[in-house]
Amino acid sequence: MSKLVICDHPLIQHKLTFIRNKDTNTKDFRELVDEVATLMAYEITRDIPLETITVQTPVAETPSKVVSGRMLGLVPILRAGLGMVEGILKLIPAAKVGHIGLFRDHETLQPTEYYINLPTDAPNRLLVVVDPMLATGGSAIAAITALKKRDCEHIKLMCLIAAPEGVKAVQEAHPDIDIYIAALDECLNEKGYIVPGLGDAGDRMFGTN
Ligand code: PRP
Ligand code: URA
Repeated sequence: MSKLVICDHPLIQHKLTFIRNKDTNTKDFRELVDEVATLMAYEITRDIPLETITVQTPVAETPSKVVSGRMLGLVPILRAGLGMVEGILKLIPAAKVGHIGLFRDHETLQPTEYYINLPTDAPNRLLVVVDPMLATGGSAIAAITALKKRDCEHIKLMCLIAAPEGVKAVQEAHPDIDIYIAALDECLNEKGYIVPGLGDAGDRMFGTN
C-alpha cells in the first residue's frame, strides 16, 4: 500500500488557515498557495536519491552529495493545479511541466478530460501530479490513469486538502501511488465539496465563480 504523508509543518498549517478563510482575497490566496507548494516540495523530495561527487572547496578537496536518479516532472490538473507549479519550481527549477485538463461535472461529479500535454520524456521522470483539492478522488484517479496509459510509472500525488473519501478512492484505484497532503479534512458535503475545505479552489485562485 502506498504512503499517505500529511505535511503538518507549522508554517504550512499557519498558511493553510489563511487559505481556508473565505475573506482572503484572490491575490493573497494565490501567494499563499504558492508558498505552501514550495514548502510541500521540500517534503515530496525528501526521499530522492543522492550520489557522492568530489568538490574542491577553497580549503580542501572533499566528497559531497548531489541529487541523482530520475529527473522530476510536474503535472498540474487544470485549472487549480496551475497555482502550485511556480512554488514547486522555486525548489526544483529544472523540472519539466506537463498539463492535464479535467473538469468535474457539477451534477455527476465525474471528471471529463479535455486536454493533455506531457514532456516527451515523461515516462523516464518522477511525475508529481498537483491539484489543491482531493475530493471524491475522481480527477486525481483519471489523471494518474492517463499518465499510466502513456507508460508513466513513477508518480506521486500532491494536494493541499483531501477528504477521507478521496484518499481511499485513490488508494484503491492506484495502490502504488504515494499521496502528500497538507490537511485531511472531515468529509464531503452533498455537493461534493470538502468540509471544511476552502471552497472552489479554481474560482478562488482565478477570481471566477
Ligand atoms: C476541482 C479541483 C480538482 C477537483 C477535485 O477542479 O481542482 O481538480 O475539483 O474534485 P474530485 O476529487 O471530486 O475530482 P474542478 O473540476 O472544479 O475544475 P477547475 O480547477 O477548472 O475549477
Ligand atoms: N473541488 C474544489 O475546488 N473544492 C472542493 O471542495 C471539492 C472539489
